[in-house]
Amino acid sequence: MQPNPVARGQQGQAPLSPEEIPEVFNPAAPTTRRDSFAGRTEQLAQIVDVVAQRGQHAVVYGERGVGKTSLAVVATGALVERRILALRVNCDGSDDFVSIWRKVVREAQMGRPLPPVVGIRELLTEATASAGSLLAATHVTVDVVRQALQILSHPAPIVVVLDEFDRLEHVRTKRLFADTIKALSDHIVLATVIFVGVAETPEMLLGEHRSIERGLRAIHVPRMSAAELAVIVRLGFGKLQMSIADDAVARIGELSDGFPYHAHSLGLLASREAIRSGQGAVQVVHVDRVAPQVIH
Ligand SMILES: Nc1ncnc2c1ncn2[C@@H]1O[C@H](COP(=O)(O)OP(=O)(O)OP(=O)(O)O)[C@@H](O)[C@H]1O
Ligand SMILES: [Mg+2]
Repeated sequence: MQPNPVARGQQGQAPLSPEEIPEVFNPAAPTTRRDSFAGRTEQLAQIVDVVAQRGQHAVVYGERGVGKTSLAVVATGALVERRILALRVNCDGSDDFVSIWRKVVREAQMGRPLPPVVGIRELLTEATASAGSLLAATHVTVDVVRQALQILSHPAPIVVVLDEFDRLEHVRTKRLFADTIKALSDHIVLATVIFVGVAETPEMLLGEHRSIERGLRAIHVPRMSAAELAVIVRLGFGKLQMSIADDAVARIGELSDGFPYHAHSLGLLASREAIRSGQGAVQVVHVDRVAPQVIH
């Protein structure tokens, strides 16, 4: 039997195909849009607060898959309106201190979206060229990085998100980053650094550095509450213009065990399951049928 398309509201929209659903429920990609992002009010406010304070930086940490990248992207996405340039880079196992800062400069060269500052494109082109040539030297010290960031933050204040920081293993590399934070704070450079990574404690991500404690705010990203997970589900089904029974929303909230990843997977599979069985609304039975594929 052919699956029935789902009726989309009463306004006569085109029928929804199962292929469209992953645009709404996407377990594999971070959430980047504010209107798809649920909860985390406190953590969003903490990031805004850190960015507003000169000499403050942040470490965003928590379990794998709990929503750290989404939080960092959504929080920094709003900064462009405040004339701040947000730059995000991913660290990987082959990176060292200098390679990460070079990535930051490359990101600034691409600079999107740009803050609404007169002549920003030209100013950034000049700044990235100067910062890039400083970082091209064979011996790049913490002070050279500090100068490069000072130049880079001249056209507009910058926020640098160093995601997947847990991928860096060397204690020496981590110490250089800690020294950089201290140098930025001492010289009042208009650059905020946000370290993001999987860790149980901020020290596990960054190492122990008493000297930077004052300048570094620890922002823990806990598992989400069932209520926050329910918001993810409702936002998603609202976008799909597909109905879901209240008890099915609650079941997804319970089964997800605090992980937004599970809520997306269950939303995706349960909506397909409802379509397959020719029903326009997701019921608990659909959630229960697909749950073993998600929760092991
Ligand atoms: N606040 C949120 N609202 C809606 N969906 C979210 C939220 N936070 C995370 N998600 C979703 O959960 C999944 C995992 O999110 P994300 O990639 O941000 O987690 P992470 O902690 O960075 O993971 P990792 O530890 O693997 O880097 C993605 O599908 C993302 O879209
Ligand atoms: Mg991540």
